[in-house]
Amino acid sequence: MAKHGPYFGDLQNEIYLSGAGPALPVTADELAHAAHAAMTAKAWAYVAGGASTERTMRANVAAFERWRLVPRVLRQVVERDLAVELFGQRLAAPVLTAPVGALGLVHDEPELCAVRAASKAGLGFVLTTVAHHSMEDVAAAAPKAVRWFQLYWPGEDAIAESLVRRAEAAGYGAIVVTVDTPTLGWRPRDLALANLPFLAGIGLANYLSDPVFRSMLAEPPESSDAAMRAAVATWIAMFSRPALSWSDFARLREWTRLPVLVKGVCHADDARAAVDAGLDGIVVSNHGGRQLDGARAALDCLVDVAAAVGDRTTLLFDSGVRCGADVVIALALGARAVLLGRPWVHGLALAGQDGVTHVLRHLLADVELTMVLAGYASPAELSVDSVVRERY
Ligand code: FNR
Repeated sequence: MAKHGPYFGDLQNEIYLSGAGPALPVTADELAHAAHAAMTAKAWAYVAGGASTERTMRANVAAFERWRLVPRVLRQVVERDLAVELFGQRLAAPVLTAPVGALGLVHDEPELCAVRAASKAGLGFVLTTVAHHSMEDVAAAAPKAVRWFQLYWPGEDAIAESLVRRAEAAGYGAIVVTVDTPTLGWRPRDLALANLPFLAGIGLANYLSDPVFRSMLAEPPESSDAAMRAAVATWIAMFSRPALSWSDFARLREWTRLPVLVKGVCHADDARAAVDAGLDGIVVSNHGGRQLDGARAALDCLVDVAAAVGDRTTLLFDSGVRCGADVVIALALGARAVLLGRPWVHGLALAGQDGVTHVLRHLLADVELTMVLAGYASPAELSVDSVVRERY
């Protein structure tokens, strides 16, 4: 192994030796509970909510219960190294923070906190299109971080092109196109509060700072409330691109030399189409159950997608990752890395950058100790043979 400590798992000793428990809760459930108490009703509804009955959101977490690691013993896992390389970019562990939009609801500096925390932990950060800060400001907050840009492909190609070119210029290392959002899912918790943050201008920094978007406005959005309302209306009219197809990705290739991934693929045939379209990676995800309710758990989709294209592309995974074993199970089932979603937002809500750091450090310690206890020294040693599917 290349690495000889200190290890993420050393956090365990640090806590015990300190004699005092951490400032924030340790488990994902307790963290969510504490975040709920700290957030406004609208912010909680937006972050915690899923589509319709929320059965897919629950299924994502429940799916992990059906897969179990089978520990291997006496394999002399002393040195260990969780590092992975993705598209030539090195991460200290196979974890990135998932893109999460509209976090101005939760914190004044959401993405600045998160990118700094991810960078300090040596992890990747995926910036949402609908961020509170412009991608250039996020880049300046953590210039050396592994940062990727998530694109909601807008109705206007000129804006899509501008966003992508800006991302490359600002040092983002990949473009992640989210394809599970041709329209917004039906979200009862937000509907009950008539709460769509974007209507209040939350999450539009990348648009309001975009020269092409601004050239489409009659007046600068900051000049008056009416001008801002007009900018929001312009944004709404072009936010999603239901007519997007695999053939559109050829144009994206002309705009950037960065690796291109699609996020939100669940069906093996769509995964094959992504590979056939020449894309560099796939994030198997159902958007944390926020889009299509009644959809299959993302982890079960990972199994099929890995069987179909696992040897031909780079697979990432999200939706339902809550603890170390979840990460290790997803890696065993074919993901090269996972995206962490709601838990980092809970940390942000509770304690800003320190809260995100808390969540990431605790997760990494849990991942590493899980690996050691299961008998694996590095992610590359994991395979489907590391897990079994229980029939309950
Ligand atoms: C998201 N997600 C998301 N995805 C994306 O591609 N762009 C975005 O702007 C957002 N925004 C967003 C907001 C909120 C509040 C949540 C919870 C999620 C989806 C996200 O990237 C990821 O797929 C899910 O969070 C994974 O599910 P869990 O693990 O958080 O349940």
